[in-house]
Amino acid sequence: MNITVIGAGYVGLITGACLADIGMNVICMDKNKATINNLNKLELPIYEPGLEDLIKKNCLVNKLHFTTSTKKAIENSTAIFICVGTPSLKDGSVNLKYIYQAAKEIANYINSYKLIIIKSTVPVGTCQRVKSFINDIMKNTKKSIEFDIVSNPEFLREGTAINDFNFPDRIVIGTDSQRATMIMKDIYNAPIFQDTPFIFTKIETSEMIKYASNAFLATKISYINEIANICELCGADISVVAYAMGLDKRIGDKFLNPGPGFGGSCFPKDTKALIKIGEDLGYKPNIIKSVMNSNLLQRKRAVQKIINVIGEVKEKTFTLLGLAFKPNTADIRESASIYIIEELLKNGGIIKAFDPKAMDSMKNSYPELAIKYCDDELSACEGSDCIIFATDWKQFRDIDFTVIKGIVNNPVIIDLRNMFEPSYIKNNGFLYKGIGRE
Ligand SMILES: NC(=O)c1ccc[n+]([C@@H]2O[C@H](COP(=O)([O-])OP(=O)(O)OC[C@H]3O[C@@H](n4cnc5c(N)ncnc54)[C@H](O)[C@@H]3O)[C@@H](O)[C@H]2O)c1
Repeated sequence: MNITVIGAGYVGLITGACLADIGMNVICMDKNKATINNLNKLELPIYEPGLEDLIKKNCLVNKLHFTTSTKKAIENSTAIFICVGTPSLKDGSVNLKYIYQAAKEIANYINSYKLIIIKSTVPVGTCQRVKSFINDIMKNTKKSIEFDIVSNPEFLREGTAINDFNFPDRIVIGTDSQRATMIMKDIYNAPIFQDTPFIFTKIETSEMIKYASNAFLATKISYINEIANICELCGADISVVAYAMGLDKRIGDKFLNPGPGFGGSCFPKDTKALIKIGEDLGYKPNIIKSVMNSNLLQRKRAVQKIINVIGEVKEKTFTLLGLAFKPNTADIRESASIYIIEELLKNGGIIKAFDPKAMDSMKNSYPELAIKYCDDELSACEGSDCIIFATDWKQFRDIDFTVIKGIVNNPVIIDLRNMFEPSYIKNNGFLYKGIGRE
């Protein structure tokens, strides 16, 4: 089947490459010329483990193409996945301008039946509104061509996106059309999805499943952060508490790692959006609102933890190890590191930073932040008064603390991801503070 993917970002590229890999003919379209030019030279705009090889492999066998031509992308395919960004507006509601731009382009170039699949995360009711929007444009241009809209939210996680796409916990499809159902079954009719639960449901329910899932995960993180904070005050050890909690199958062991608050392009945005969706309907979502407050407080608490140990921030050198919001990605959107760096700089601190993948993203998005970017962990730690582990990159676990001890100014480690055993770090001569344990 010929498939078009609109938006060649994280979700679009993974969707396009993985669908090509299961045999579809895929065109990825993005309005960003530089992105497409680079993709055509097999240079990726994002870092995602395994993606480069997957793209190269499928381009080589002509299953995957990239274009900026909306006309070509729309005319050639039956199924069109919309994977454009849906960022937050100031009031927490969702900016749907990219969704409507894509819809307008589809309405302009539609030449035969199309199945429009919205993979972007959109508020409940959006698919139906997009349907009316396209119908209105077609009415004005005197076009009468059939199309269907389907909601097919994406649940992949950056860093493990290919595996998540290929082996999802479930595939959710919201549709009100038999024809659309048949095409969706055709698209996902690959052996790798044989054991995957499919949920065919109403469009509105499908849209809601995505928000309900993300807000729940954000709640789980905030919950364990709160428990960690209480552990700190009462002498309990959050690592053991979380492990024991996770053995209870009703709770599960995922998302029970305390940290400096959740970030990324999805949890903060989708949690805020769900609050707005509820409020616009006249409902006050108390739990979800307190999750957002708790997350902000967790960031403030992380900074306070640093200040409590260091005292005066002015002219002290802080080493930030990790800028990405999580490991295995270059994505810094809503990363806790940004808040921590801004606060330390505001108080006169000097920031040295190292991240294996995210330094360019940080330089490009926050050129105003006076960060001294370093080539590796070692140079970032030279002369440091306080080393802060902000992202749990696996390679940080291999750091030789006996070497680090000899090059720092002050042997202090703030481990915001509980990456290390406190006794191990302390035995290496450091003052150590983790989260929720001593
Ligand atoms: N990133 C994730 O981990 C993730 C996971 C699940 C769901 N989502 C959701 O998927 C959607 C996309 O997220 P993302 O992280 O891939 O975004 P992104 O910012 O990485 O990529 C979006 C891309 O869409 C392009 N674009 C915007 N308008 C366009 C148009 N009219 N025509 C063609 N291209 C256009 C942009 O140039 C950009 O390259 C969002 O709704 C997000 O909430 C993201």
